[in-house]
Amino acid sequence: MNDLDYLFEYASNKDITEHLTRNPHKNKEETRLLLQNLFTKYDESTFRWGIVFKENNKLIGSIDVVRLDKANETAEIGYVLNSAYHNQGIMSEAFKGVINYLFNEVNLKEICACFELGNEASKHVMEKCGLKSKNLIKKKVLPLKNNKITYVSYYSIKKHETY
Ligand SMILES: CC(C)(COP(=O)(O)OP(=O)(O)OC[C@H]1O[C@@H](n2cnc3c(N)ncnc32)[C@H](O)[C@@H]1OP(=O)(O)O)[C@@H](O)C(=O)NCCC(=O)NCCS
Repeated sequence: MNDLDYLFEYASNKDITEHLTRNPHKNKEETRLLLQNLFTKYDESTFRWGIVFKENNKLIGSIDVVRLDKANETAEIGYVLNSAYHNQGIMSEAFKGVINYLFNEVNLKEICACFELGNEASKHVMEKCGLKSKNLIKKKVLPLKNNKITYVSYYSIKKHETY
């Protein structure tokens, strides 16, 4: 809860949420409820990390397993970063760490992620982390965004493809 103000700073930014499935937070109460919900649902299948900038010890983003398919030993990753820290390689560094952890500590076999078509920054992050296009474009309806219809592209990496 000490990070609430930092989380609100980017969760309320409409540029940041443009390509996300949720709307920008309108007030800190929304952010508080989100945090509370994360704690309530936290269990041994939860993999969520806050990204903290070392120089000022500030929470500037997060990277999470948004879907865990235990049967196929596959995880889908989602991430977001405060716009003041974009294009410095931070998310690529974080994602590489998460890939390493999930393959070598959790023993998963495949990691995937998707981006809304047009989200070039996210596509670049995936490519820099070794993920390849699965040529799978899916149509999505986003209920939280007035049922906006959008298209997302899936990328993935298998454990044997890492070095
Ligand atoms: C996607 C996001 C997490 C990337 O974080 P980041 O720390 O800036 O990413 P990195 O710096 O590691 O890499 C970004 C790369 O994309 C490139 N890039 C950024 N915007 C771009 C654009 N509009 N067109 C082409 N390339 C672009 C950068 O140059 C960089 O590549 P480089 O290192 O080869 O120069 C960040 O933009 C973000 O939080 N966006 C909003 C939330 C979001 O879209 N989340 C992902 C949902 S799928």
